[in-house]
Amino acid sequence: MKGNKYNLGLNNPKLYIRTFGCQMNDYDSILIAESLAEFGYSLTSDIKQADLILFNTCAVRGLAEHKAVSELGTTRRLKEKKPNLVVGMIGCVAQKLGKDLARKYSFIDFVLGTKDMYKLSEFLKVKESKPLIQTNLNYEIKGYQTKKVDSVSAYVTVVRGCTHFCTYCIVPYVRGKEESRSLYEIEEEIKTLVGNGVKEIVLLGQNVNVYGNDIDTNLETLLLNLSAIDDLKRIRYLTSHPKSVNAKFIESVKDIPKVCTHIHIPFQSGSDTILKKMNRQHTCFEYIEKVKLLRKSIPNIGITSDIIVGFPGETEEDFLATVSVLEECRLDNVYSFKYSPREGTIAFKNMLDDVSKQEKERRLEYLHQVTDKIALEINEGVLGQTQEVLWENIKEYQGKEVLEGRTNNFKKIFSDFQEGKVGTIDTVKILKVTKNSLVGESI
Ligand code: 5AD
Ligand code: SF4
Repeated sequence: MKGNKYNLGLNNPKLYIRTFGCQMNDYDSILIAESLAEFGYSLTSDIKQADLILFNTCAVRGLAEHKAVSELGTTRRLKEKKPNLVVGMIGCVAQKLGKDLARKYSFIDFVLGTKDMYKLSEFLKVKESKPLIQTNLNYEIKGYQTKKVDSVSAYVTVVRGCTHFCTYCIVPYVRGKEESRSLYEIEEEIKTLVGNGVKEIVLLGQNVNVYGNDIDTNLETLLLNLSAIDDLKRIRYLTSHPKSVNAKFIESVKDIPKVCTHIHIPFQSGSDTILKKMNRQHTCFEYIEKVKLLRKSIPNIGITSDIIVGFPGETEEDFLATVSVLEECRLDNVYSFKYSPREGTIAFKNMLDDVSKQEKERRLEYLHQVTDKIALEINEGVLGQTQEVLWENIKEYQGKEVLEGRTNNFKKIFSDFQEGKVGTIDTVKILKVTKNSLVGESI
């Protein structure tokens, strides 16, 4: 292997990995960094020190794709200075652009799509003629597990891909069909992570509620099994499609120990006309009813959501309908996005992107204001109350160290520093609030 172009002969090679996009990408980056550690690679945060640079990319909106591609462009100069430097693009943009990337950026060493990227360390063993391009989606990923993460809370993907085909969304095309990991594999991974100090697990899926449909099990069973793991303190899961959240699901998870009282359940639009064009397969009325049922069944539940503004054909009236659903549901937090046409999707092919950039920006800004107002009111409502908090980090705030954590229902919270608290659960009295966070003291 000595002298291999992938630097396997190097002494203590350094890996720089830049991750764009969602929590699943964060998880994948950890997996890949761990698999490369077996070949001696250690992580660096300084791109100039790197022997191998990886961009783990996101294609969900044009801006994220553009950012990843332009960062790739900046490595051209680094490669000129350091000819043995290896640069690879992995993940959703790699999947989407494939050989076009290699054509445009001839200096790139490999482009590995959302499945082939798992095999990166295998590819490193073989001296390929460059560049290596692999974007095959037609097989199942098995047997990759994270082992050790340097945090109290860890992500674990449990179902990959998506088969919903919302008309605006590129995910089904770049990540392939839904594939659940086996109960055994997930439990084994989580036991190892917990053995190495993790206290909270966040189960991930584009629609995590479909977990198990393809392998004859379900999310409820997984949650129940995981809750039996000693030393695991909290379990979260995201994202939930409204279509999958029903009375049966709520009833079966609400009393499972350790499962947190938070759900991320995007509604995307408050107009039935737009929801139909988005192929969301739910109505506003159904969404509102589900939120009501969640609030009634699970006291103190935090409900967060995603919204897209400026979808093709969205009128002012449609937009105001979105605002009223948000106001009626009083969601704890909402992530809002401007519609971004994605090549290959049904909306891109069949619908005109007819809401101007300025109008999308105005609607987004307005939604931010409504979201912030509701979030502040909800947070003010817990002033003086107590919340159960898992302390996750020590942060520097205004020159002093503070504890940072999350309430069970997913609010960010800070408190004065205390030794030995990270990784423990406290009951905390809320003393101050802003729209984004709470401040409290352990009692
Ligand atoms: N344009 C804007 N936002 C999008 N999302 C997905 N696709 C697009 C797109 N083409 C948003 C949705 C989804 C979140 C992860 O990203 O709101 O829930
Ligand atoms: Fe995209 Fe819809 Fe699948 Fe979510 S459920 S990943 S928005 S296609």
